[in-house]
Amino acid sequence: MEKKRILVGITGGIAAYKVPQLIRLLKKAGAEVKAVCTPWALRFVGDETLRTITGFPVYRDGQEFYDIEHIRLAEWTDLLAICPATANTIAKMAHGIADNLLTTTAISILPEKILLAPAMNTAMWQNAATQENVAILKKRGMTMLPVGEGELACKTIGPGRMLEVEEIAGIILSRLTPEPILAGKKVLISLGPTEEPLDPVRVMTNRSSGKMGAALARSALKFGAQVVLVSGPVTVSLPDAARLVKVRTAAEMREAMLREFGEADICVMAAAVSDFRPLSVAASKIRRTEGQRLTIELAANPDILAELGRLKEQRYVVGFALETDDGEASARRKKAEKGCDMMILNKADDALEADTTRMTLFTGSEAESFPLQSKTEAADCIMRRIAGLAG
Ligand code: CTP
Repeated sequence: MEKKRILVGITGGIAAYKVPQLIRLLKKAGAEVKAVCTPWALRFVGDETLRTITGFPVYRDGQEFYDIEHIRLAEWTDLLAICPATANTIAKMAHGIADNLLTTTAISILPEKILLAPAMNTAMWQNAATQENVAILKKRGMTMLPVGEGELACKTIGPGRMLEVEEIAGIILSRLTPEPILAGKKVLISLGPTEEPLDPVRVMTNRSSGKMGAALARSALKFGAQVVLVSGPVTVSLPDAARLVKVRTAAEMREAMLREFGEADICVMAAAVSDFRPLSVAASKIRRTEGQRLTIELAANPDILAELGRLKEQRYVVGFALETDDGEASARRKKAEKGCDMMILNKADDALEADTTRMTLFTGSEAESFPLQSKTEAADCIMRRIAGLAG
């Protein structure tokens, strides 16, 4: 297997002295590791130590590197792990400040590929500014490890310690080498909105971005599944390793889903299917006249999920319920009516177009609620549950 490439970002906190040990553990597990340091980090950990342990030069400001080193590092790495992450670096990253090689590299990397292990004094950790900055980074999809409690370098006792390096190494390695829990499974995912034409230039659609479906696809691939995507019109980037079937209308989506369903072991309807379509489509552009009122008659679209639920046999079928109010009763009802094994409840305010979601999973008679998390993390939770339940 290809070596995992980990970029360890080191900032100026006392816990930086533990990082060589972290790097040693990562290398022992077979990863390639480079270290990028802020100027203050090098007061707590030796340049020579890092260079010897990583086997690479230490990436830092003031070195004679190629002038787009941050882009090269960003492209090179599978994961940027910032350990320790100080309040100052967290604050800069939350506000897009790029004033050293580490923060400039961080702004060049997708948030999902960044993990931070905060470490600071309790008062700094509990400060409202730090907590707000932490929330901003989490909301963008970065992984923020919790802080430990105990005696800190300043002799105070409380939250703020960096997690033990053994624990951090374990988290990083399991992120990069996920268990093949879906190996041999074929996963069919619908995503995005559908578009229903009114005339040759106008459509009726909705605000679904397809981000949840894209995250589910990446997660299923990561866990070893083969993935087929039936996607409405979206701009979100979809993984190349999935087979893509592009559709526009609900009728096209229904046809594609019915065709692909036969081969699938697991099916997730993450698409926001338009419930209605204009009853007739004008052959040429509908013209406007002053003071005119126009009534468009709509017809109900078929319920694709309910149809798949009836045909499902041994397949594991998952639906989404996007609700504007409380929605729990509605999600349970939809689960039963559409014959799903799992129904995932999202609130429209939390999830629509966002990179994060707050969801509740309904399986059997059980309900499991999750806190606000990135769609990447939510997708992993969903795929792990499916793998455990689909057999
Ligand atoms: N769905 C579907 N076909 C439709 C409408 C919805 O397959 N015509 C699927 C969605 O992909 C989703 C689930 O059904 O997985 C629930 O969608 P939702 O819009 O929440 O429910 P509806 O059945 O449309 O109910 P309502 O609009 O009344 O809330």
